[in-house]
Amino acid sequence: MILVTGGTGFIGSHTCVELLNAGYEVVVIDNLMNSKAESLDAVKEITGKSCTFYKVDINDEAGLREVFSKHTFECVIHFAGLKAVGESCQKPHFYYSNNISGTLTLLKVMNEFGCKGIVFSSSATVYGNNNEPPFTEDMPTSCTNPYGWTKLMQEQMLTDIALADKDMRVVLLRYFNPIGAHPSGLIGENPNGIPNNLVPYICKVAIGQLPYLNVYGNDYDTVDGTGVRDYIHVVDLAKGHLAALKYLEKNTGVLTVNLGTGNGYSVLQVVDAYAKASGKEIPVNIAPRRQGDIASGYANASKAYEKLGWKAELGIDEMCRDAWNYASKKM
Ligand code: WQD
Repeated sequence: MILVTGGTGFIGSHTCVELLNAGYEVVVIDNLMNSKAESLDAVKEITGKSCTFYKVDINDEAGLREVFSKHTFECVIHFAGLKAVGESCQKPHFYYSNNISGTLTLLKVMNEFGCKGIVFSSSATVYGNNNEPPFTEDMPTSCTNPYGWTKLMQEQMLTDIALADKDMRVVLLRYFNPIGAHPSGLIGENPNGIPNNLVPYICKVAIGQLPYLNVYGNDYDTVDGTGVRDYIHVVDLAKGHLAALKYLEKNTGVLTVNLGTGNGYSVLQVVDAYAKASGKEIPVNIAPRRQGDIASGYANASKAYEKLGWKAELGIDEMCRDAWNYASKKM
């Protein structure tokens, strides 16, 4: 039995699909602050199997204890947390209390019930803006915003807990830029309000909800002056969690792994790929750089393959095809 925190969210719901398809029994907790329980109906439609769902916040110790008293979990896949970079700069206390205290509460209850395995949703944002890509897991880390610091602090918490308890089994997954949607078009990324991230914003332009895309800077030292990122299909990312789970079944200690494709694409290259996949013109406006952005970031993905036997299979065209398919049906 696997507990998925934040399992009604974008990456969480796609991971539930892969877990169910692989034969795992899945329990999901989510506070539904940034997602809807209906996404689990779509997960059932895709897989033909159900997750058990509890509306519980990771900060709710009693609620967590009740869930752990009803099920025996081999492992927790921990997605739950606030994740908007800009918002974290406006509301740092909210981010630190929710993300750090929430994870400490979760770890306390896990320990009480003898659950020693955790796959943690970290982020490539921990590489900061002082490293040259491709990023490797041994590079120095730093952050430029409270959201990123909460990820790095949680990595440190989990590392120290595993040092103190030799039975702990921890995989820290550093995601690059997850985009796309399940090919069924039943689940995908549909943030509330105006999207912060590139591809959901492009989706809203493609379906006519927004007039054009602001390109944040075209004077970076990159192929065409616009920001370069390592976009990874959310289904590939979800399969990376399955590989991490299988690793934990045989290994204790802490493993830190990049989940990226190893390929970087510029903003304008993504716009072109999306226009081709959707058949829609995406008008752009060159705007000033966005504070905190790095010029270029992409993964050295070799450790994931060496340790987990996982590598991304889908390319930018499939990512844009599936993002458009979802946007045209569900956004
Ligand atoms: C990608 C590129 C922008 C929007 C962040 C977080 C990371 C993770 C993913 C949570 C950049 C450009 C964007 C737009 C643009 N989040 N852009 N116009 O900033 O690489 O990563 O989201 O886990 O932790 O740091 O992703 O999609 O916001 O930006 O030109 O309207 O697109 O400048 O070059 P980012 P992004």
